[in-house]
Amino acid sequence: MAETLQQLILDTLESSSTIKDTRTLVIPGQSDPAASQDAQIAILGALNSLFSREMITYDTHETLSHVLTPEGAQLVLEGSHEARVWAALPVKGEGTPVTPLELKSRVGDETAKVGQGRAFKSGWIAKEGSGLVKSALTITDTTQLDLREVDSTGTLQSGEKVLAELRKRKLIVQRKGQWFSVRKGANFSTSTAKPETDLTVDMLTSGAWKTSTFKKYNFEAEGIPTNGGALHPLLKVREEIRNIFLEMGFEEMPTSAFVESGFWCFDALFVPQQHPARDLQDTFYLSDPSTSLEPPSDYYKRVSEVHQNGGYGSLGYRAPWSHEESRKLLLRTHTTASSAAVLYKLAGKCRGKKVDDEALDSTTGGSLAATDDGFRPAKMFSIDRVFRNETMDATHLAEFHQVEGVVADRNLTLADLIGFMRVFFKKMGIENLRFKPAFNPYTEPSLEIFAFHPYLNKWVEIGNSGMFRPEMLEPMGLPKDVRVLGWGVSLERPTMIRYGINNIRTLVGHKTSIENVESSPAVRF
Ligand code: PHE
Repeated sequence: MAETLQQLILDTLESSSTIKDTRTLVIPGQSDPAASQDAQIAILGALNSLFSREMITYDTHETLSHVLTPEGAQLVLEGSHEARVWAALPVKGEGTPVTPLELKSRVGDETAKVGQGRAFKSGWIAKEGSGLVKSALTITDTTQLDLREVDSTGTLQSGEKVLAELRKRKLIVQRKGQWFSVRKGANFSTSTAKPETDLTVDMLTSGAWKTSTFKKYNFEAEGIPTNGGALHPLLKVREEIRNIFLEMGFEEMPTSAFVESGFWCFDALFVPQQHPARDLQDTFYLSDPSTSLEPPSDYYKRVSEVHQNGGYGSLGYRAPWSHEESRKLLLRTHTTASSAAVLYKLAGKCRGKKVDDEALDSTTGGSLAATDDGFRPAKMFSIDRVFRNETMDATHLAEFHQVEGVVADRNLTLADLIGFMRVFFKKMGIENLRFKPAFNPYTEPSLEIFAFHPYLNKWVEIGNSGMFRPEMLEPMGLPKDVRVLGWGVSLERPTMIRYGINNIRTLVGHKTSIENVESSPAVRF
């Protein structure tokens, strides 16, 4: 139908160059006259389709037409009330006049009531005793004829007065209508072949493009998403946290060593060699190569000494020391291993040695000048990956990211640690903090950090912190009054909370959807 109409419009334009009024179109195989609103609506669809291809242009004209009400439609079929009343009566002098009661039972209450008055007025019926008879031998049911005309043309030749009367009788209602005048468009042709949507190599080589019709650009259409790179949510949150540290004057520590030795990951941190965290169940060890290079020898001696026999006011662990344990290579279980290496370098000038590592030097080489004993304060941070041999579940993977802040200065106290953490977490939008005493082999005191989670409506553990032990700091060569505080948080937890993710596997790993990564919004704490 749609195609036939389009063809009809094009053919009509071809022969008569314009269509002044679409109501005059002769639609083949359609019993409905083109003037009907339904036909005009179908024509409009065809016009729009041709217009989008610039084959035609058209103007819209509004009309007011009339349609029958259900009652009007009934009268077309059965005749008007007055005609039915007339038909139900005997001709005067030829039968028993019909009483009003009898008339009601013959034509129905409504018809008898409305019809009598109108039939009297037209002189069709008359009273005869207490009954009614026909006073005209023939009648013309103009109401029925008028309604029929309205039904087929939407209006009446006889004019507005009668239309108004029929409206008053609720037999017809007004309806807004449309019709159209049509002209040829820039791409006029009588062929409705589907326009091309793309200019192809084939069309260019064959020359078919010269005669093809092309579909108009739709500038309202949504584009195809571009497939450029996108930052993973973890990277976005990492960037935000990095900015918080930088705002607070912290410098980033180098953390490129994913593989560490037992010495730097545990021994230097005064973690006993028998500690369960060093078990195969908790830590991934390397098999090839399986052992590290030798650690700095003097420092190594001091570390093994404090473990076995104590010193710096400590009793030590008084347990046998294993050189093999110390040299085992492993995937670092925390970034504190990297912090220990940086602190060792920081203590270099205090040990009276020249620091040879340029990269570390620039990391810890802030504006604060070193004092006589070679120490200068430092505020440092890192955000990087760590590995634990854990059973994986919805919130744990065998690898994740740690965020770590470390501050070294003379005479720092626990209040400084809490103060730094309050500022740091406040910048992340977390103001409600609680601290709980905890244990770490390398810090004393140690504090677990809890935050009130507004969505979960409960306190959740968000990190771990403490003042590094003298058993860790003094063997490095840091002066006795230098205190180092530190705290660690995972990067995954705030990211999952931020993005409303409750299964870590949708954030990291092969089940992550690239679409989610690409459409994940930026994070602002
Ligand atoms: N390394 C600790 C952990 O893995 C975090 C921490 C960092 C604790 C610094 C104290 C000081 O949870």
